[in-house]
Amino acid sequence: MPETDVIKQRHSVRNYKPERIEEKTMDLLKEKIAELNSEGRLHLQMIEDAGNTYNKLLNRMMGLGSAPSVIACVGPDDATLEQRIGYYGEKLVLYAQELGLNTCWAGTFNKKNIGAKVSDNERLVISIAIGYGQDNGKPHKSKTADQIMEAGTDRPAWFDKGIEMALLAPTAINQQKFVIRLNPDGTVDFIDKGGVFSQVDLGIVRCHFEIGAERKVGEI
Ligand SMILES: Cc1cc2nc3c(=O)[nH]c(=O)nc-3n(C[C@H](O)[C@H](O)[C@H](O)COP(=O)(O)O)c2cc1C
Repeated sequence: MPETDVIKQRHSVRNYKPERIEEKTMDLLKEKIAELNSEGRLHLQMIEDAGNTYNKLLNRMMGLGSAPSVIACVGPDDATLEQRIGYYGEKLVLYAQELGLNTCWAGTFNKKNIGAKVSDNERLVISIAIGYGQDNGKPHKSKTADQIMEAGTDRPAWFDKGIEMALLAPTAINQQKFVIRLNPDGTVDFIDKGGVFSQVDLGIVRCHFEIGAERKVGEI
């Protein structure tokens, strides 16, 4: 299936069936995690039993406590860690979607209970709930393309396709506080307009944009 279709199908899901992820699927996810960790210099970890990761009041109100498994997003603590987590974590989210799973990025979770391995030079940034959803979620309310881009009127078609996919990116509390700028020399800048987890958001947005634009645009 084209990745743009996978993007269109993905929505945050907060209520899960009790079934654990099938063994074969779990193996594929772990392979993908190993690949992304090496590419992105990360230490993403599959925690097969989410246990009490989502026992906070807010989690219970939203339903996330039903997630059977969770991905702990950990990596060496440097200036680009949060963006790399967003970028490579979203690649994993889209892969999971392709495998018939559902997910939800979650900044609110119990850091003590998740059971992640975090070395001295590393930081646990965020979690991703994963499992078989009770439903497939629903499209989020979205800003318009004009609200999130800076580009002239005679811009290339690939840029518009990138913007279309960027608008479908999950962002913390659906804030969409980013701007994507097309420079006269054809390079693209991703600009952080602040807010909670805005650097993670920016990495996710970059991942979506590149899929839509069918090209890699710069480095994190
Ligand atoms: C960095 C980040 C943090 C998030 N944290 C939470 C959270 O703590 N709890 C929650 O229920 N959803 C959380 N979300 C999910 C967003 O609310 C959701 O992505 C947004 O509303 C857009 O909806 P969609 O993912 O269905 O497109 C988070 C999303 C991102 C990207």
